[in-house]
Parts: sequence; structure tokens; C-alpha cells
Amino acid sequence: MGSENDIFDEIEGMVVKDAAKLFSPAVIEHFNNPKNMGALEEPDAYTFMSGMCGDTIGIFLRLSGEKISKIGFVTNGCGPTIACASALTSLAKGKATAEACNITSEQLIEFLGGLPRENTHCADLAVNTLRGALAKLG
Ligand code: FES
Repeated sequence: MGSENDIFDEIEGMVVKDAAKLFSPAVIEHFNNPKNMGALEEPDAYTFMSGMCGDTIGIFLRLSGEKISKIGFVTNGCGPTIACASALTSLAKGKATAEACNITSEQLIEFLGGLPRENTHCADLAVNTLRGALAKLG
């Protein structure tokens, strides 16, 4: 008879397999190992935004000249939201603010190797939050 650990391993294996049916390897990687997660101390700008689903993302920026030298995010959202915020902050880091502002949801989704249709709003929320934080720079 299997131990409790075997059962947990089996359940975890099923969850991972199900996720792989729905999401690209890049989405799963960014969800499992998010980049730039966490708020920044003394940011030059930050903002929080919520989507219609009720999920919220906060993005924090620190600049060096015109470029984004540090970027962090927090979220209470779903796995795809974490993946979108992680991928978007990775894309924006090191870019000039004007360039980062031009990153679109479509580009983010393409970078992630696609998203299920019901999760494309997670990409919109991430992009809108970044633009909101950039707008606070004045
Ligand atoms: Fe709404 Fe992900 S489910 S932002």
C-alpha cells in the first residue's frame, strides 16, 4: 500500500500533466520560477491594478536614467497572472521607459508561447499595470 507521500506525488504529477495540456512550457516555467517577484523598497513609481476577475497586480519600478534598472511585482492572482507578470517584468527590465510602455499584450502572449483564451485578460492586466506604473513617473 502506498504511503501518504506517494499519494501526494501522484496528485502533484496529475496536476502538472493537466497544466501541461493547457499551458505552454514558458507559462509553466514562469509560474513555477517567477522572475522579479516582490515589492521594491523606495520605488520611483508603482501602481496596483485589478482586473474584472478581481485579481490584482502591483508593479514597482526603479530607474537609472531613462532605463528600468529594477522592477518587481506582487499579485494575488492565478498561475497565468503570475506567469504574465513574471514574463512582462523580464521583458521590461533594462528597457527605456518609452520602449517598455510599447510592449503589448499580444507580444507578451507570443513571448509566453500562447495563453488559453480565458487567460488572455491576465496578460492585459499585467500590461495595463506596467503602463500605469510608468505613467506615475510623470
Ligand atoms: Fe484574472 Fe488571471 S484570472 S488576471
